[in-house]
Amino acid sequence: MRKLTKNLTLVAALLASTSAVRAADVEVLHWWTSGGEAAALNVLKEDLAGQGIGWNDMPVAGGGGESAMTVLRARVTAGDPPTAVQMLGFDIQDWAEEGALADLNLVAAEEGWDAVVPPALQAFSKHDGKWIAAPVNIHSSNWVWANKAVLEELGIAQPTTWDEFVAAMQKVKDSGKTALAHGGQAWQEATVFDGVVLSVGGVDLYRKAFVELDPEALGSDEIAAVFERMETLRGFVDDNFSGRDWNLASAMVINGEAAFQIMGDWAKGEFLNAGKVPGDDFLCFRVPGSQGSLSILSDQFAMFGVTDEDAKAAQAEMARSIMSPAFQSAFNVVKGSVPARTDVPDEAFDACGKQGMQELAEGAANDTLVGSIAHGHANRASVKNAIYDVVTAHFNGEYDAQTAAEELVTAVELAQ
Ligand code: GAL
Repeated sequence: MRKLTKNLTLVAALLASTSAVRAADVEVLHWWTSGGEAAALNVLKEDLAGQGIGWNDMPVAGGGGESAMTVLRARVTAGDPPTAVQMLGFDIQDWAEEGALADLNLVAAEEGWDAVVPPALQAFSKHDGKWIAAPVNIHSSNWVWANKAVLEELGIAQPTTWDEFVAAMQKVKDSGKTALAHGGQAWQEATVFDGVVLSVGGVDLYRKAFVELDPEALGSDEIAAVFERMETLRGFVDDNFSGRDWNLASAMVINGEAAFQIMGDWAKGEFLNAGKVPGDDFLCFRVPGSQGSLSILSDQFAMFGVTDEDAKAAQAEMARSIMSPAFQSAFNVVKGSVPARTDVPDEAFDACGKQGMQELAEGAANDTLVGSIAHGHANRASVKNAIYDVVTAHFNGEYDAQTAAEELVTAVELAQ
């Protein structure tokens, strides 16, 4: 009997030690549900699986992440936060202020994040000097995606000025094709708005109006001119744009039904997922007039405070994986974004990716990077949502340009 007890004790000890070695699974809340996004997410899932970390998927569909943030609030309110959450900009700061996020300083110090993550990004990844999120990438929103064959068929050269862009869209419209593929959702109108503001007044207008929230700038003739350009774009979308998901608009350009889409470079992930090649099948260029400036945003994974030691270990390992140079290259090549780290070579990236990395470096050197209004990097959610409301109401014909600028002043003032 004594021998049996001894063996059972030995087996129990072995089992305990095995479980201590295997980190817990991570439950991850995110909104990467399109083809391209899912392909990129798989790079992360496989990376973690290679380290024995299981992935408990919690996708919340809805581009831009509004729905995901609503579900997150409900989960935390119920006292049941996910292990890790995809988050943008000021949303990270809001959760950090609530004391809901885990301290990643240990892994950040071990991996030297401070030296390789741009200060503009650290402003969102850290709170009170503590790392509370791991940045996966840097996206920018002031891009145009074009079907090369459609442009060639119509003898249209890549537009470099706003007037050339409008003339090109008119030529496409006259041909019977859709000039501008668009999804009528507030976050998509706001994404277009990012680039149009830059095309009218560059980073000076953008910062004065949408970072400093200066009422005079918000209600200025320049902002009225921005809304006039939004009206011009409204004239080039198809009749069924309302409510369309962004990746279905990308598909219209991919299949040649439409010539252009103004969308962040996650759209490139859709083109790549469809087997399309930059320069051969599609063109990528900055919203005409916005060249030299980038409205940027970063997808970060914020780790929620948990007590279970295995879960904490899994969070640290997930953060470490996300920030590894090899992962930052492999993931961003698929996602359409560029690495959050500045020390990742661009070898693996395609022509649009290389252009994006070069423009980001130039923007950093010339101080022409601004945080995306649409994706939570210019202001907190209350102000962002107030801007969404005015921009989408105007796009749907509720206001003329001058009135929209006036409404913007009021809405932003009330939201602060
Ligand atoms: C952005 C996010 C991108 C992509 C896009 C469309 O907010 O940063 O990674 O998901 O929404 O959903």
